Amino acid sequence: MSISLKTPEEIQKMRIAGKLAARVLTMIEPYVKVGITTNLLNEICHTYIVQNQHAIPAPLNYRGFPKSICTSVNHVVCHGIPDDKRLQNGDIINIDVTVLKDGYHGDTSRMFFVGTPSRIAQKLVEVTQECLNLGIQIVRPGTTLGDIGHVIQTYAEQEGFSVVREYCGHGIGKMFHEAPQVLHYGKKGTGLVLQPGMTFTIEPMVNAKGHEVMRLSDGWTVVTKDHSLSAQWEHTLCVTKKGVEILTSE
Ligand code: MF3
Ligand code: CO
Ligand code: CO
Repeated sequence: MSISLKTPEEIQKMRIAGKLAARVLTMIEPYVKVGITTNLLNEICHTYIVQNQHAIPAPLNYRGFPKSICTSVNHVVCHGIPDDKRLQNGDIINIDVTVLKDGYHGDTSRMFFVGTPSRIAQKLVEVTQECLNLGIQIVRPGTTLGDIGHVIQTYAEQEGFSVVREYCGHGIGKMFHEAPQVLHYGKKGTGLVLQPGMTFTIEPMVNAKGHEVMRLSDGWTVVTKDHSLSAQWEHTLCVTKKGVEILTSE
């Protein structure tokens, strides 16, 4: 139970790291098209972060992760490893970018449509984005982590989808993953009470069918057990005196 409260100086550094991460997602958007490989998306992001932003792509070599971004396509829930497969019409893809700049991390991810999505894919992506927004909207001093999990789970399930249990949001700062764990399901009024200066991510993973997931033998790729589609959106946040600041908006 040691949750660091960031100083104004630290928050300023996290603002910079967060903005850089957000800009990578904006930069890569026009490349996310039918026929590109996720390896090429990885290379473009890597080069941009290193050469243009003078920052470090935090995933590279993190606990042995082999690439600079995570690319999670269709039924891949999270931690997809970029490879030589080409994106196809109708795919949905999450690109997850974490940059380390001046000692602090910024972590954000979003969904992209490749060509024309199916109706269910479109709805899943929209509902998952709304889950993130609903979570962010209640962040302020006094809100509990259980409150955040509760609003996300309630909305996802009301729309007929399910929330992944095994992976969660996290405190962030000097370390990529710090305490606390931020679950995307839970009960109102339970868990940690938020205070100004806390920095953490909310990053709901929502599945079209069952919530169960499994990890592939590459040690990283997490997929839905029933092979249904999965979506995820992520922001890095700071609790302020009055509410919340999104550190990973442009
Ligand atoms: N960016 C992911 C998160 O949101 C973590 C990726 S870990 C990696 O927490 F090693 F796969 F990069
Ligand atoms: Co994260
Ligand atoms: Co992330």
